[in-house]
Amino acid sequence: MAEPRTIIVTGCSSGIGAYCARALKADGWRVFATVRKQEDLGSLQADGIEAFRMDYAHTDSIADFMREIEVVSGGRIDALFNNGAYGQPGAVEDLTTDVLREQFEANFFGWHELTRRVLPLMRKRGSGRIVQCSSILGVVPYRYRGAYTASKFALEGLSVTLRMELQGSGIHVSLIEPGPIASRFTANALSKINEHIDIRGSVHAADYRRQLARLDGTGPVSRHKLQPDAVYAVLKDALNSKNPKPHYPVTVPAKQGMMLKRLLPADLFYRLMRWTD
Ligand SMILES: NC(=O)c1ccc[n+]([C@@H]2O[C@H](COP(=O)([O-])OP(=O)(O)OC[C@H]3O[C@@H](n4cnc5c(N)ncnc54)[C@H](OP(=O)(O)O)[C@@H]3O)[C@@H](O)[C@H]2O)c1
Repeated sequence: MAEPRTIIVTGCSSGIGAYCARALKADGWRVFATVRKQEDLGSLQADGIEAFRMDYAHTDSIADFMREIEVVSGGRIDALFNNGAYGQPGAVEDLTTDVLREQFEANFFGWHELTRRVLPLMRKRGSGRIVQCSSILGVVPYRYRGAYTASKFALEGLSVTLRMELQGSGIHVSLIEPGPIASRFTANALSKINEHIDIRGSVHAADYRRQLARLDGTGPVSRHKLQPDAVYAVLKDALNSKNPKPHYPVTVPAKQGMMLKRLLPADLFYRLMRWTD
């Protein structure tokens, strides 16, 4: 019997990663799932998933994880799903450089580090899939999400460049750009705004109060919000299709955002985006 294909999925303690790790396992993949905290290993292991600790913000953690993975996988990694990330809310003028740097360590530099460590294994086998869980905010900007938007714009730029550089290598790179998906993302963002933004002292205090109501679940919920299985549907295509697409927008707002950006003059588009939250 053929060996199952192997995939690394990061950020599997909740949301999209937790769902996709289990769905991939059910579809016959050998899944190496990562979480940051010891207490999150158990529920994945209970579902028969090989689970490891890895934090993108710490280079040593990525190196330790990959050393272990090379041994357990025998050097066979067929696919990488970079997924673990968080959103740091806050107006651009309220973001300290350290807070911005932290956002990039988790959402951008860590992804690059892990990808660079996986690529030589894929190159040796002459095949592989790298799928980046970006965001519609990697394509269109959003007020009070400058740190996250910047990290995902950077990810888009690096990933499409990598895609072009890998043409002909047998390794394919795709980006998934979800709009609103049910997960712990907004709850985690709420703790980040409270941790890092001086809400009361900001000229944006009134806007933050409105934002907080949305993040804590008391504000309106997008009627377009989908479950993580919507992301899995396109992840499967990126992993299995002979010619995986560069971009996979997910949800109606994500598809609309991309289309409007393409069609409208820039000034009009940004003025429209001013009213989206
Ligand atoms: N939900 C949405 O509406 C939405 C929309 C567009 C894009 N996305 C993208 O979807 C991906 C998954 O997010 P989600 O919606 O599933 O949110 P989530 O439920 O908050 O899950 C995020 C996962 O990332 C992990 N993570 C956070 N910081 C990390 C780090 N430094 N190193 C490694 N892992 C880290 C979290 O671990 P802990 O539990 O330890 O914090 C958690 O497992 C992210 O890339 C996000 O940008 C989400």
